[in-house]
Amino acid sequence: MRVLVVGSGGREHALTWAIAKSPRCSSLYCAPGNGGITNIAECVDIKADDIDAIVAFAKEKKIDFVVIGPEGPLVMGLADQLTAAGITAFGPSAGAAMIEGSKARMKDLCAKYDIPTAQYACFKDFHAAKAYIDSHGAPIVVKADGLAGGKGVILCHTKSEAYAAINQMMIEKKFKNAGGKVVIEEFMEGEEASFFALLDGKIALPLASAQDHKAAFDGDKGPNTGGMGAYTPAPILNKKLTKEVMETIIEPTIIGMAKEGTPFKGVLYAGLMITENGPKLIEYNCRFGDPECQPLMMRLKSDALEILLAAAEGRLDSVEIEWHKDAALSIVMAARGYPGMFGKGSEITGIKAAEKIRGVTVFHAGTRVDGDRLIAIGGRVLNVTAIGCDIAEAQKNAYKAIRMINWKEGFYRTDIGWRAVKKTIQNTK
Ligand code: AMP
Ligand code: GLY
Repeated sequence: MRVLVVGSGGREHALTWAIAKSPRCSSLYCAPGNGGITNIAECVDIKADDIDAIVAFAKEKKIDFVVIGPEGPLVMGLADQLTAAGITAFGPSAGAAMIEGSKARMKDLCAKYDIPTAQYACFKDFHAAKAYIDSHGAPIVVKADGLAGGKGVILCHTKSEAYAAINQMMIEKKFKNAGGKVVIEEFMEGEEASFFALLDGKIALPLASAQDHKAAFDGDKGPNTGGMGAYTPAPILNKKLTKEVMETIIEPTIIGMAKEGTPFKGVLYAGLMITENGPKLIEYNCRFGDPECQPLMMRLKSDALEILLAAAEGRLDSVEIEWHKDAALSIVMAARGYPGMFGKGSEITGIKAAEKIRGVTVFHAGTRVDGDRLIAIGGRVLNVTAIGCDIAEAQKNAYKAIRMINWKEGFYRTDIGWRAVKKTIQNTK
């Protein structure tokens, strides 16, 4: 089978790595890929959101199956265009991807199908939004409706912060059109958890639990990022909670989306708040989490190509997803300055030595090969990922490996997995 993976991050490196192991995979391409993917697949210089060029390439190379990593091309309709061209695609249609592309759409689905989430209201009018803040008070959460690169959510502790937030979004247009409409919602208290399920339009299979660290610095401090590290399993998502999330959140979503004429195929990623009153949905994403995908792929025992294909072909009832018992943990190495301004073009060495440690794989994100040098060209650059018999051992192995990598312009958090390690120790006491 001829396979094309779309994207250029650590998530796509992990997906390509897992698919490459499948005996069914005969040729493997990635568009555009990165400095690590180039070792396991043929990278083609087409941007992930150049929909027409990707479809043309897939036709020309007689690709059988396209796995789409990021949300951008999904929201732009890449899966629809491939399907129209007779090519099987992993990832939701543009209509179904709106579950991530529009927060208002997601909230309306929750209201209609009784899916637990924060109370909310949507506004296009500044004065109506302000009146809502006045009557509800703080703390309160203001969100730009559309995709804003993960930055369109403002947690407001006072009313004046909330006024400033709607002003930035609706008047100053800080997030361009994404903020033309805003969602204002109740501030939920609790511990956050990420939940991933594979959907084929009709049924859902939960994936192993995973959790990321969004804050840039140790102690979960500093600005929010796309994720500075992740691990699986996540102790907070025990069997009972997983069942509750499936029954109260994921299953009503599949049913609701099919009824609305936008059945969801692909990975549904639910951001949850585990509140005193049970799990509630914060947001949906229509794709794998990055970096959560990296440790998940390392723990996956089943053939990745088989299960992604089963989801795309609507036959998840015929597969079982198996996981290794081991834990896995991934640390992101990012360019100094990320998530703000950062430099590009510095050299990285030591990856081969790091990968000699048993159970360690370094997934690349913002890297490029330049002759025989590996160059950093992005914000998040490497994902040093390790397995271990538990999170503490995976953590130890990953940190041992990351210390072997020489990249002066890079930084990483030194406490990835801390909450899980603490919970595991508490549980064994
Ligand atoms: P989102 O992009 O919607 O996932 O929001 C980003 C982050 O903001 C989440 O990971 C939460 O930490 C926080 N957040 C979003 N909505 C709420 C809410 N209603 N209550 C409390 N925290 C929230
Ligand atoms: N790790 C967070 C995300 O992929 O959105």
